[in-house]
Amino acid sequence: MPIFPEFLHVLTFDALPSTNDYLKENYPALEDSFPVMVNARLQTRGRGRGGRVWLSTGDLGVYATFGVHISDPRLLSFLTVAAGLAVAEALNGFSGLDFVLKWPNDVLIQGKKIAGILVENIVVGKKVVSLIGIGVNVNQQPGDFPPELAERAISLRMATGRICPVDEIRIRLARRLFRWLARLEKGETGVVIDRANRLSRWLIGRSISFHDGNREVTGTYAGMDPGGGAILEREAGGRDVFFSGEILESRGVEGPLPRRNG
Ligand code: BTN
Repeated sequence: MPIFPEFLHVLTFDALPSTNDYLKENYPALEDSFPVMVNARLQTRGRGRGGRVWLSTGDLGVYATFGVHISDPRLLSFLTVAAGLAVAEALNGFSGLDFVLKWPNDVLIQGKKIAGILVENIVVGKKVVSLIGIGVNVNQQPGDFPPELAERAISLRMATGRICPVDEIRIRLARRLFRWLARLEKGETGVVIDRANRLSRWLIGRSISFHDGNREVTGTYAGMDPGGGAILEREAGGRDVFFSGEILESRGVEGPLPRRNG
């Protein structure tokens, strides 16, 4: 059983509205303890991307936010990808199963979403504080997801067929995440993107609909560019790179692409 990285300050609560919000609100008191991992056994107002709710039922999942200071602001756009890699590898290390990524923040298995990432950066004085929020569905059973998520969401228990130790998943996740953050700090963004593209191969070359925040566009997904953006090859020729937005669905393949916890 692995242990938390020794430099990491770990706080665990029975219940919080949202681990991201807790860290944001308590940053002044926690700053000197950074890096920090805030865990909640349940969240009453768990948040996903785009203002969505992140279902955070008691003891069924990992609900964690890592508070870190990143030395170079140019690295901030790689945090979501690095966190996705950490989740996929932590879950693989635990179960031996293969997990894949869907740009920008989803971790999937069997075509369904098992984990999501919500990175928020706040500026405090001259410092940028990064809050890396991670939700992993661990012990949910199909009936634990509301009907609108049932088709799109999966848990580690559903994937492995056994109850899984949430505490151990938290520790594995923390270890993996700080390995990737250390590589980013060494400037190895290329390694992060290469690895993420490897875990995104299932989607590369597929026709997708993409929402860039204003409008929906279609094209062929061509992976992540060196800056972490999603490359979309247009049907009429040429390519666009998006740094925000969402892949809505892939056309011409079996099954929908998950949008929430997820
Ligand atoms: C998404 O896929 O939309 C992102 C989901 C992120 C959920 C996590 S759970 C821990 C942290 N606290 C929150 O309120 N959200 C993130």
